[in-house]
Amino acid sequence: MMKNFKFYALLLTIFLLSCKTTKITPSVAESSPIDLKTMQGGMWIPSLLEGMNETEMINLGSKLTAKDIYDVNHSSLKDAIGHFNGGCTSEIISNQGLVLTNHHCGFSQIQSHSSLENDYLKDGFWAMNLEDELPNEGLFIEFIVRIEDITKQAFMGITDNMTEAQKQSQITKNTNAAQKSIVKEAWQDTKVKAFYKGNQYFLFVTELFEDIRLVGAPPSSIGKFGNDTDNWVFPRHTGDFSMFRIYADKNNKPAAYSKDNVPYTPKHYLPVSLDGIEEGDFTLVFGFPGRTNEYLPAVAIEHITKQFNPSNIAIRAAALKVIDAKMKTSDAIRIKYASKQARIANYWKKWIGENLGIEKSNAVAKRRAFEATFTKALKEKGLENKYGNILPQFKQLYSDFSSINIKRRNFIEVFLVNNELMQMCFRAYQMEQAITKNPSNFEKAKTSFIGRLKGIHKNYDVSVDKSVFNNIMPLYTSNIDASIYNLTAFTSLDKSLKLLDGTADQIIRNLNQDAAYKYAKPLIAEFYNKINPAYQTKNNAINTLQAKYMTALMEALPNARYFPDANSTLRVTYGQVHGYSPRDAVYYNPVSYLDGVIEKYVPGDYEFDVPKKLRDLYKAKDYGQYADKNGKIPVCFLGTNHTTGGNSGSPAIDAYGNLVGLNFDRVWEGTMSDMNYDPEICRNIMVDIRYVLFIVDKYAGAKRLIDEMTLVHPKK
Ligand code: ARG
Ligand code: GLU
Repeated sequence: MMKNFKFYALLLTIFLLSCKTTKITPSVAESSPIDLKTMQGGMWIPSLLEGMNETEMINLGSKLTAKDIYDVNHSSLKDAIGHFNGGCTSEIISNQGLVLTNHHCGFSQIQSHSSLENDYLKDGFWAMNLEDELPNEGLFIEFIVRIEDITKQAFMGITDNMTEAQKQSQITKNTNAAQKSIVKEAWQDTKVKAFYKGNQYFLFVTELFEDIRLVGAPPSSIGKFGNDTDNWVFPRHTGDFSMFRIYADKNNKPAAYSKDNVPYTPKHYLPVSLDGIEEGDFTLVFGFPGRTNEYLPAVAIEHITKQFNPSNIAIRAAALKVIDAKMKTSDAIRIKYASKQARIANYWKKWIGENLGIEKSNAVAKRRAFEATFTKALKEKGLENKYGNILPQFKQLYSDFSSINIKRRNFIEVFLVNNELMQMCFRAYQMEQAITKNPSNFEKAKTSFIGRLKGIHKNYDVSVDKSVFNNIMPLYTSNIDASIYNLTAFTSLDKSLKLLDGTADQIIRNLNQDAAYKYAKPLIAEFYNKINPAYQTKNNAINTLQAKYMTALMEALPNARYFPDANSTLRVTYGQVHGYSPRDAVYYNPVSYLDGVIEKYVPGDYEFDVPKKLRDLYKAKDYGQYADKNGKIPVCFLGTNHTTGGNSGSPAIDAYGNLVGLNFDRVWEGTMSDMNYDPEICRNIMVDIRYVLFIVDKYAGAKRLIDEMTLVHPKK
């Protein structure tokens, strides 16, 4: 049936709906036959679900009302969803503040508690009582108390004859005033975010918890099973979860860490379903997606996939070639470069997949066709004078922008992502600039630079870095001089620190005599003085036009299904459990099983080893209450939910509001959903909650955690 998923939901929907003249509010159910494909895709604002979204969800199988999901007067699902450390999502799963998120989201906390004696990364960690739960400095979870549309107030006093900068400053003034005047409790905060490219503004009242303790994590051979080889792909067999607990003060209010704090009693926590999912089941993913760009013109998609991505992929591939090989030659290097390598490889692989998806789905041609529809609508509605120049302007702007955008990004790849000697020089340059600008910055700038140096040297290997330099530098400049590695102080922390001895003048003199600094300084100066300013000017022009395009789309095709781009705010995305076909004659079932973990098992391998205890449980089929109706343990499953980075750790919620899974990734070809959601091949990947329960209970023996959850059987 998925074979009929032949089109491109958003754009065709826009096209189809634009043919109607009446507004499509909740009447989707009346139109028959119902096309479920057109009801998926989009990351929706939880306070605005009544109407179209509620109806679409019901058509997809949901039994939830909009108010079950978001309510200001009563507890609702949203009260269980927390923004985890600003970058991931987490959810509360017990009345004692127990929190679930991904293993890769808790990775640095797990790592920071690890040592050679207590290698929690390798062996996992389980607190067997409250006293054993480990505090994490700096870690926070933020909840949304309330969302208010303040668009009207934001636009007060804005007139057509204002410049872009004047408009922006008036809007900032207005939104600051809105934040000041909003009614809230003393311990709550506010923030304002722009939606639809600045066509709407919403104010969020938030609550931030700072005493978050580590409760449990599986070993990496479960939580990171398959590593980079399996990253972004299906079939997947990763148990990518970890558990934390929110502590509050005696009045159940947010508070800084104190040993007197107690487990938080939440307004709502998610019941956990033991009945699992089947193909076609409704799923809702609730979380904090970071950034998407769904309304790009064709010319932008072309630029990204034909120029921008390939140049970044090439630099990262050149770096990884060295890093991967060297990591295999030495354990010390492997450990030092583990998380750096994972960071570089994650987006290297993502960009390749994004390009595959854009090509496979013919996205550029389809967007051109859509632009023809838009242009036609402008003509029909007499909007040509107002908006007719947008698409030609995009073409002009992107032809100006493309080379500077690539140059700037390549600089970032070389100087901030892949090569560490260049990164040290970059930070040194920033220090020199700060001191030159104002000598009173000296101590602060020096301390911050020393902090950077120490951070880099903690996980630094000169031979790796030099090989990376040799491999990637030719992709940025024709001026390559690897002899700097033998001459510079920066390859040794001690020598670097010596170079930083003395007065500001002495340090700057020393710095400018250093071979690596002498080499890098003109390149960095070029970035600051030419590349970045040129980029900023052109990028601002594109952003302004993109905002106008958004307005024009909504005016020319007012009945379409517009969802705002992700902006790290709380969103709902709904869909169904479905497999997909990545290539001709290949079809991926939506569910993977423990059997697949065992199939992938490679004894001793750093990606595919399987702990003995897990193999024993598999052999004995000791699955407790967690097997599905075929007597197998499900591990991961696929859905059509439209997710992106930041949705990691988001709950997958069933038709009744119970937890069935934990979002952690997308399929390779589907990563293009950041600019082109296509229900035919865009799939998010979730850990089946029964695998989480099975690992916690049977593998880790942390029964106390199972006992505090509310396990339910919605299908019985
Ligand atoms: N691809 C997922 C995400 O974007 C998981 C990344 C963590 N795993 C890894 N092998 N790097 O965050
Ligand atoms: N792994 C991603 C994250 O950390 C989510 C995957 C995606 O980009 O969809 O948020």
